[in-house]
Amino acid sequence: MSAFKIQGGRPLHGTVDVPGSKNAALAILSAVPLIEGTVALDNVPDITDVHHKLRLLESLGAQVAWREGTLFIDCTELHSCEADEESVRPIRTSFYLLGSLLARRGYAKLPAPGGCRIGARPVDFHLKGLELLGAKVDLVSGCFVAKAERLVGAEIYLDFPSAGATQHLMATAVRADGVSVIQNAAVEPEVTTLAEFLNRMGARIEGAGTSTVTITGVARLTPGAFRVPEDRLQAGTYLIAGAITGGEVTVTDILPECQTALVNKLREAGAEAAEGPDWVTVSAPKRLKGIRVKTMPYPGFPTDIQQPMAALLGLASGQSVVEETIYESRIGHIPELNRMGAKMTVEGRATVIEGVTCYRGAIVETSDLRAGAALCVAALAAEGETLVKGLALIDRGYDGFEGRLRSLGASVRRLSLTERIGDKAQEE
Ligand code: EPU
Repeated sequence: MSAFKIQGGRPLHGTVDVPGSKNAALAILSAVPLIEGTVALDNVPDITDVHHKLRLLESLGAQVAWREGTLFIDCTELHSCEADEESVRPIRTSFYLLGSLLARRGYAKLPAPGGCRIGARPVDFHLKGLELLGAKVDLVSGCFVAKAERLVGAEIYLDFPSAGATQHLMATAVRADGVSVIQNAAVEPEVTTLAEFLNRMGARIEGAGTSTVTITGVARLTPGAFRVPEDRLQAGTYLIAGAITGGEVTVTDILPECQTALVNKLREAGAEAAEGPDWVTVSAPKRLKGIRVKTMPYPGFPTDIQQPMAALLGLASGQSVVEETIYESRIGHIPELNRMGAKMTVEGRATVIEGVTCYRGAIVETSDLRAGAALCVAALAAEGETLVKGLALIDRGYDGFEGRLRSLGASVRRLSLTERIGDKAQEE
């Protein structure tokens, strides 16, 4: 197991850029089987989820190559439309291949994705939508087997604006006959990015980024090039890392409008923020004040930033409440933050936080990707040394995390832990 050794108490200062968006890249990688020919993708983040997904595509027959930072994928010759448990379960978006394989080959068999440490994460909207598009989907021995002689345009209403279901069904409908309309669609920027990608390849999608998305099916897509936009969630994490340490951090080459919810809540807590056409700066006093935060679908406060935000509010004066409305159990960070001296309790869907004046270094372990980010930002502000274990989860979504934090003045080292933590830790 590996860990970050973080020496806390240094205010972060400086400017940092962020890599391409994990969630946009993963959605695009689920849609590439729709395209015959070589697609060139720039700014794909170097994270384990991407590498895992590429291995899965290769196992289906895709040709994958990296040349000078650009990812080339050719799905012309797909020799299989079936994936095994190991390649699908760890990455939920692998399941979104069901629609693109179905559209391309009329058949797909993929293991059902499991729940995870943030909630049950059902796929009922995906299945209902695929059936409306003309597929027959059966659950056979834990795998979804989908068949369709042809897909046909349909009107699909989502009971909740699910980002994944919108992406999956939008991409599938691109190769259906006729017009599809997705009502109550998610408006997350990663949905818009996927639509831009598909339109660049010849799809006809209108309204992405609004709650009604209209897709006019096309017979084939033509390969081309696309650049994955920067990751708004990594950007938000660095802004919080600056604020929790009482420093000043600028994140560049981003869309400031994607940070609106976070920036406004940080201002409400007493931080100062400024923004330009492609940057946001946040600076914070030594101590912020407690506030209420409620996660919502975009453009509301992102669930993926809720955990680092709770870490920040754990050091704010007075009481804070962080209400999670998207996932039922995105709370793995709480016992670990409490080990560091936080005073947090879970009441239903809310984390109630009594602000403390300091965190103290401890050995903590991450339960999921964003819990890992929360523990790291807490450690940056803590007195003394913290070991954050479970980096495999952080590496799923943060590209060059420790390097970027170090460039802002943080003391972060990646350790390979052998035997007893502490005396046997070795730097990698
Ligand atoms: N939902 C259902 N049925 C479905 C689909 C979703 O009930 O068929 C529910 C979910 O259980 C959840 C809500 O709808 O309560 C919203 O889930 P959504 O489908 O929007 O989430 P997702 O597409 O599975 C993506 C991101 C998540 C991010 C959410 C919300 C990817 C790979 N994942 O998940 O990112 O939290 O949207 O914005 O794009 C992360 O990056 O750490 C992460 C978990």
